[in-house]
Amino acid sequence: MKIALGADHAGFELKDNLASLLRDEGHQVEDHGTGSSASVDYPEYAAAVGQAVQNGSADLGILVCGTGVGIGIAANKIKGIRAAICNDIFTAGMARAHNDANVLALGARVVGPGVAEEIVRAFLTTEYEGGRHSRRVGKIHALEDHE
Ligand code: RB5
Repeated sequence: MKIALGADHAGFELKDNLASLLRDEGHQVEDHGTGSSASVDYPEYAAAVGQAVQNGSADLGILVCGTGVGIGIAANKIKGIRAAICNDIFTAGMARAHNDANVLALGARVVGPGVAEEIVRAFLTTEYEGGRHSRRVGKIHALEDHE
């Protein structure tokens, strides 16, 4: 799978660990930074990863900030992006199964590295169920044209 990764200063260490893990597992990783603990603004990384998913250069995106909240909200401003803020394994699986989430947003200050890996695993291995959920996902995107 082609996976775009991005993080701010609070999430870069976890993002780098996840990048190594994903590469070891044979995924193609597109790392959009940041690459250090120097303070940066998370919307820039949300935009880079969101655009990679939007234009098809990545199948899915993973974003990390302190809580996952800011970077997830920012990613959802990009048309076609369904970013799910998931700091537990169950939600990550449901975000794929029911919401067809195409970006996972994680909080490096909320979950430890082991739980984060399990969250990512659930996100990458759970299939979208389609069916009745497609109507609802369609209605989410209809809101993009709402004033
Ligand atoms: C950065 O200090 C922090 O605000 C950011 O990583 C994130 O948690 C925002 O939602």
